[in-house]
Amino acid sequence: MKTYLVTGGAGFIGSNFINYMLKKHLDIKLINLDKLTYAGNLENLKDAAKNPNYKFVQGDICDEELVGKLFKNNDIDIVVNFASESHVDRSIKNPQIFVKTNIQGTAVLLNAAKSAWETSEAFKDGVKFLQISTDEVYGSLGEKGHFSETTPLDPHSIYSSSKAGADLLVKAYYDTYKMPVCITRSSNNYGPFQFPEKLIPLTINNCINKKLIPVYGDGMNIRDWIYVQDNCMAIEMIINNGQMGQIYNIGGHNEKTNIHIIKIIIEYLHDNLNPKIDDNLITYVEDRKGHDRRYSVDTTKIEKEIGWHPETLFQNGIKMTIKWYLENKEWMKNVTGGEYQNYYEQMYRINSSIKGCP
Ligand code: NAD
Ligand code: TYD
Repeated sequence: MKTYLVTGGAGFIGSNFINYMLKKHLDIKLINLDKLTYAGNLENLKDAAKNPNYKFVQGDICDEELVGKLFKNNDIDIVVNFASESHVDRSIKNPQIFVKTNIQGTAVLLNAAKSAWETSEAFKDGVKFLQISTDEVYGSLGEKGHFSETTPLDPHSIYSSSKAGADLLVKAYYDTYKMPVCITRSSNNYGPFQFPEKLIPLTINNCINKKLIPVYGDGMNIRDWIYVQDNCMAIEMIINNGQMGQIYNIGGHNEKTNIHIIKIIIEYLHDNLNPKIDDNLITYVEDRKGHDRRYSVDTTKIEKEIGWHPETLFQNGIKMTIKWYLENKEWMKNVTGGEYQNYYEQMYRINSSIKGCP
């Protein structure tokens, strides 16, 4: 019976991963270490909480003593490090917490795992440290080309720089100690439980509440969107079959401009919920500082070596996602209270004070 330490498991991708793994495997133990920042929500894990093989620990990955104790008291085989500050806009406003959680936190986890797993000869059999990174570490593309795993790192935002810093530490633990690690670099995820500060849930939430949808710059920035369940599947396959010390890109083969994404959501809600939800909600606002233009990942390596490929077509994934938010308005109400509301209102005031459509 393998024991997983999943960090940041109360967030968007982490909670989808935990739910996916516990449903699929009866023979694993899973510890979720999460600080419960504004982005962490135990509501995402109501089913998991009933599972005797699941344990939640509230705590910070930067807390060496706590992380050390978790390794000492549990025979951890696999670490999956989702814990992160994850929103680019927040990193522009408050860089320090990104450096702390994303870099220092990863260093604490790496060190604790090394101490627990290293024997006088080599590392224990069957252990692995999986770092969940992002395609944003590669920087920004023009109209053509794709990021492969050998594309040089060229992060621009504080968020992506801190993720790149963490990736280099993970690589150093492999290069120096031959610690068994892998890194995933996935494109933009969408699906249930995503905090409504990110483009897709923000657009759905604003449409439902008939609030303006802020489009940064000209709306022509491109992201490659992957349904979160497909990413969870890729992560599981990399845990089982990923080569040690290797990086794997994960993507949805689905590049879209931001304005196209917003229009797809508006159209669906116009037709299925309320004809008053229309393009008038779109408001062009000042561009994000240092806004990356285009991301696009080449997923040949994971497809060839591991046999994974994304299964969910965007036209299906986006419908499932919108339906989930419509059916879970209480969840949305809970997360849009408190700190988020203040943050959002602040952003919104800044955004709505800017006029002009390109
Ligand atoms: P999220 O912001 O929804 O969740 C992050 C979780 O980490 C929250 O539960 C939060 O409470 C927890 N956390 C934050 N700081 C912590 C700390 N110091 N100690 C312990 N827990 C802490 O993020 P997400 O969208 O689920 O992203 C998960 C991971 O995937 C991140 O590492 C992110 O960089 C990466 N990623 C995300 C996307 C995406 O589109 N969302 C794409 C590529 C990569
Ligand atoms: P986001 O969901 O924040 O993810 P990331 O910046 O990590 O790719 O943003 C996705 C794209 O949508 C990005 O180009 C910024 C843009 N965007 C808007 O135009 N308006 C918004 O309100 C938000 C949150 C994002």
